[in-house]
Amino acid sequence: MTYSFVSVALSVTLLNNVMNNVNGMKVAVYYEALCGDSVDFITHQLYPHFSELSDYIDLELIPYGKAVHNYNNGSYEFSCQHGPSECKGNKLQSCILAHNDDQLKQVQFVNCIMRRRSRSSSSTVKGCARQYHLDVENFDSCSKGSEGDRLLAGMGDKTLALDPSISFVPTIIFDGKYNEDVQNDSLVDFVAVVCSKIGGTKPSICENRHLPRRLWN
Ligand SMILES: *[C@@H]1O[C@H](CO)[C@@H](O)[C@H](O)[C@H]1NC(C)=O
Ligand SMILES: *[C@@H]1O[C@H](CO)[C@@H](O)[C@H](O)[C@H]1NC(C)=O
Repeated sequence: MTYSFVSVALSVTLLNNVMNNVNGMKVAVYYEALCGDSVDFITHQLYPHFSELSDYIDLELIPYGKAVHNYNNGSYEFSCQHGPSECKGNKLQSCILAHNDDQLKQVQFVNCIMRRRSRSSSSTVKGCARQYHLDVENFDSCSKGSEGDRLLAGMGDKTLALDPSISFVPTIIFDGKYNEDVQNDSLVDFVAVVCSKIGGTKPSICENRHLPRRLWN
């Protein structure tokens, strides 16, 4: 009895470790909807091999970028690097991300949007959410009401809390700490950076994968 209880408990723990990111590697991606470098990073670096790396990563997607907001007499005002439609796009994404925790689906969803020209339109965002079976039940009320503003402001508070403050979009942060080499390498070979940080047995995608060579070394 005791033995099987312990062994079941142990198996559950091991399973949980695999499902909940053994390495405890946190990756935060600070990006914005209408930014070409964000499109490049998400479609060429983050998305293509994410399913192979997802077990090792605890991902957070933060669509805000180089924007500002303030709270004035009961409502939020936002100003985004690429204008009001970028704020709208970021808000629409925030509404879906906040109601859907599955990080693989989140990446598929954001990749789907970033490939489109009409990245700020409700129909694009909703269509991409539906395509990957994300919950869209709250989407309309969230995006048209105060919830969307509050969520976007929350993305903003996280972005504005960065130290040093954000200078390039996208910014990729591992384990809460900005590092310029890691940032630069991530833009060139995100998979290699993740692989370099996985302790113990690495997934096969990591075989013969090396950090980008730094020519100035
Ligand atoms: C604040 O908002 C209320 C309601 O919208 C409005 O009646 C009032 O004039 C506003 N006050 C200022 C200082 O803008
Ligand atoms: C990172 O890339 C930027 C832009 O290309 C460059 O100016 C900077 O020197 C690089 N930093 C490091 C540590 O390699």
